[in-house]
Amino acid sequence: MYAWLVVLHVLGAAIWTGGHLVLATTVLPRVLRERDVPGLLRFEEGFETIGMPALLVQIVTGILLALHHVPDMARWFAFDDRAGVLVFVKLLLLAATAALALHAKQKVLPGLDAERLPAMAWHIVPVTVLAVLFVFVGVAIRTGGLV
Ligand code: HEM
Repeated sequence: MYAWLVVLHVLGAAIWTGGHLVLATTVLPRVLRERDVPGLLRFEEGFETIGMPALLVQIVTGILLALHHVPDMARWFAFDDRAGVLVFVKLLLLAATAALALHAKQKVLPGLDAERLPAMAWHIVPVTVLAVLFVFVGVAIRTGGLV
């Protein structure tokens, strides 16, 4: 069971973090250069169908893995245990990701035009940085290294 959870979690990470890295480093610079709003929306639409389920899988498997490492949920918020603190950091990363995604969906994406592409970039880049931090913190929980 534990091994399957890790497989699903790593697959989800490949999709969520990998997809955002492709978006931020290849699609976004071209979209900004060519002011290609439809190009960005096309990528977003395609990515959403696999990216959102992947994020959902991350949340469910992440919580089950966190319970595997730190079974007492109270210790996720007690700051007296390294793994517990790292789980808490993952929850903070999740809250920041959700806030940025929700803000983009409600305030930036509706009626997006070329003038507001930089505002969209200011959501995509931080979400990508957060996606990479998820990986660092996750590997730190498993290995005890990195952070
Ligand atoms: C998009 C969101 C996330 C990404 C990209 C992500 C990525 C990763 C990666 C790459 C690992 C390393 C796996 C390994 O070395 O075995 C990992 C481990 C872990 N993640 Fe996440 N994670 C995400 C969300 C979450 C959430 C929401 C939680 C729960 C609070 C969580 C809890 C954990 C735990 C406990 C581990 C250690 C698992 C283990 O190796 O035993 N993750 N994560």
